[in-house]
Amino acid sequence: MEPSSRPPSDARFRAVKRPVGIVPVVPLTDIQLSAFTELIYDRSGIRVSPEQRAILSNRLRRRLRLSGIRSFEAYYDCLLTLHSRHVEWGEIFQAVTGGESYLFRNKQQWDWLVHVYLPRVDREAQRGTRARRLRIWSAACGTGEEPVTIACCLAQGLADFRGWDLSILGTDIAAGAIRRAVCGKFHKRAIQHVDPLCRRHFFTVDRQGTDWETDERLRAMINYQRRNLLEPAPDGRFDLVFLRDVLTYFDERSTEATLDHVHEAMRPGALLICGGREEVQAGASGFGRLRPWLYQKSEVWPDAMNGKRPQPVAFAVAPKRLQQRKEKQSGTSFGTW
Ligand SMILES: C[S@@+](CC[C@H](N)C(=O)[O-])C[C@H]1O[C@@H](n2cnc3c(N)ncnc32)[C@H](O)[C@@H]1O
Repeated sequence: MEPSSRPPSDARFRAVKRPVGIVPVVPLTDIQLSAFTELIYDRSGIRVSPEQRAILSNRLRRRLRLSGIRSFEAYYDCLLTLHSRHVEWGEIFQAVTGGESYLFRNKQQWDWLVHVYLPRVDREAQRGTRARRLRIWSAACGTGEEPVTIACCLAQGLADFRGWDLSILGTDIAAGAIRRAVCGKFHKRAIQHVDPLCRRHFFTVDRQGTDWETDERLRAMINYQRRNLLEPAPDGRFDLVFLRDVLTYFDERSTEATLDHVHEAMRPGALLICGGREEVQAGASGFGRLRPWLYQKSEVWPDAMNGKRPQPVAFAVAPKRLQQRKEKQSGTSFGTW
């Protein structure tokens, strides 16, 4: 049976947000911690690194204290009954992912977007060979730096961005990350690579000079949702997908499930942007490689696979069954992005 994504009727979780009376300090053993890391892997595909074990251990202690649950076994059992979209899971995922990000991280990718990709789609729209419409997915968007950077680039790279139908979907598994992203506020450290003109146009600084608020013209393009990449992707027929610095948390099994969902959500010929150090196995993944971090959706599976995508191993939150795709004899010709 699929675990619930709504808060359970269990009174232990109704109390989850408020510290309760005196809760004994319960030790967390290595064996218990390992059981939690296995459960996290099963739900999110994330392999908790040795460095993250200490952070996770602190987070578990804190969640136990806040929930009023008296033992780690009972807390584990509760997590087991909850769907990975439950807010309690979001708090756990938060402990083992992320870190501080900033706008325009990995400059060469944004230069490509502003100076290569967007002028080209703009020209195509002017010639009437494509609609003035772009659907972009920032998958694993963290605390919103990536979707807001995309919005800045659209404003810079399209001759008249207000004449376009533009939408950016930002998704992340971590509840806290999405909460922060929705606020649209960034610390001054996070916006230091935004060029001064863009900053003047699209950000307002608070009185203390520390937090910068994103302008409504950019925010209007972005929607946020909490989503797990191991579950079927949003139905978007996306033109561009940013999947940066999240595959590094995954092993082969999680990567394969994620890429399959992403592939499914992209329109033919759409482009995938990965992190600088993340390599997608071209061909087998259903993507052709154009640059070290840039991939294009392909419908072609290599001969070695008999023209079929292999079935991935199922997760606890099972990815949708993959549709086996027939190899197209003609192949896909990649663009010159
Ligand atoms: C290093 S951050 C990437 C931030 C963003 N892509 C950027 O470039 O600024 C990794 C993000 O992946 C998210 N994440 C990890 N596993 C996930 C999963 N299974 N589904 C969705 N998001 C996940 C984490 O919550 C975290 O916010």
